Amino acid sequence: MKPEDFEVKELGRATTKSPLCEESRYNSMFSFVTDKDRILYDTSLIKFEKSRKSGETPISFEKAGPRESMYFQPSKTKIGIVTCGGLCPGLNNVIRSIVMTAHYRYGVKNVTGFQYGYEGLNPDFDHPVIELTPSVVNDINHIGGTILGSSRGNQDVSLMVDTLEMMNINIIFCIGGDGTLRGAHAIHEEITKRGRKIAVAGIPKTIDNDINLIDKSFGFETAFTMANDVISNAHNEAIGAYNGIALVKLMGRDSGFIAAHAALANQEVNYVLVPEMSFTLDGPDGFIEVLRKRLENRHHALVVVAEGAGQDFFTGEAMEKDPSGNTKLKDIGLYLRDTISAKYKEDKFPFSLRYIDPSYYIRSSPANANDSKFCSLLAQNAVHAVMAGKTDFVVGYWNNEFTLLPIPAAVAKRKKIDINGELWWNVLEATGQPNMQ
Ligand code: F6P
Repeated sequence: MKPEDFEVKELGRATTKSPLCEESRYNSMFSFVTDKDRILYDTSLIKFEKSRKSGETPISFEKAGPRESMYFQPSKTKIGIVTCGGLCPGLNNVIRSIVMTAHYRYGVKNVTGFQYGYEGLNPDFDHPVIELTPSVVNDINHIGGTILGSSRGNQDVSLMVDTLEMMNINIIFCIGGDGTLRGAHAIHEEITKRGRKIAVAGIPKTIDNDINLIDKSFGFETAFTMANDVISNAHNEAIGAYNGIALVKLMGRDSGFIAAHAALANQEVNYVLVPEMSFTLDGPDGFIEVLRKRLENRHHALVVVAEGAGQDFFTGEAMEKDPSGNTKLKDIGLYLRDTISAKYKEDKFPFSLRYIDPSYYIRSSPANANDSKFCSLLAQNAVHAVMAGKTDFVVGYWNNEFTLLPIPAAVAKRKKIDINGELWWNVLEATGQPNMQ
């Protein structure tokens, strides 16, 4: 990582006084943010002293927040919003807050919603646009999903930018995860190639919480809270039968954050299996024997498996891709259910296995209170940044501060659980699960 990788691009000089300057609360209570306000990547004093001694500039992120001057003139500005990828709690909260902040704080009255993800920007699909006014978005924060609809996959970048130009869009908000942000960056590059001044902002949406250099994406907290409810009921199933096993499969394609956090919230889970760890099924240290010992001692067990765990059991099988380019996963939940059941039956070991897959249930609900708050603040900070002319960035959250992160840095790699780190240590403490290699 180099400090220059964290410089957010600007469309030009912000020379117009922000209407926020007229709001007295900003003068007395709150200072405007400047480009010099930065948030340290690593807050440890030892690391800070080290870079001070060596003269190196420590890595830091631009702080998000309202700026004193604007690049765009509100009355001449047109905003576009697109929601992409899988559903996620909080999408409508973000849409609502963008519209409300743009309208009431900055006086930007022209906001257009593109339907069904990047398809909405591709004229070939001809999805009608939705004009987003405060009255249209007023109550949408109480509804799960997205009023704009969504889709997976990229569209022809040139056609998408043609649409932005044709509709005189000055600012486009792309709400989505890794794939959406890559798409947003490609849109930015095409805009730059054409010499146009259109701001591109990303808002980090994914229940998987796997975006690099962002502590949490919106929707994640609601998703693991929903998962926690499922796990609690699954626990009742497990203890309700002799040698009862409740096996819960949760989303989490490459990163097991939902499984880990739901297990930590719940504290009843005995085994958490995530994509970041490898485990074996057979042999004395394998999962099947470890589970059998637990059943012999305690007569019930609660197992949570993230959908991306144990994919190495399917090596050699044909792998397909989804429209976002993600490898379509093999069903580890069903595989575990069938393999464990077959082995215990063969051994005449008494057990009762309940398999629960809440699937899309955990991501289609409305956002909980904390996520709702988080969504609003992400959206507000995104509006502040674009109005100041920032582009090709995603609003981040790091060390309890809202940040602006260049999109290339956010998509450089996927955030995963560090199997030697504190989170996983906490999971091992909570579950007591052994190494199952
Ligand atoms: O990317 C978020 C996610 O919820 C993953 O955990 C999951 O693999 C995926 O979406 C499933 O979504 P879909 O069926 O819409 O592709």
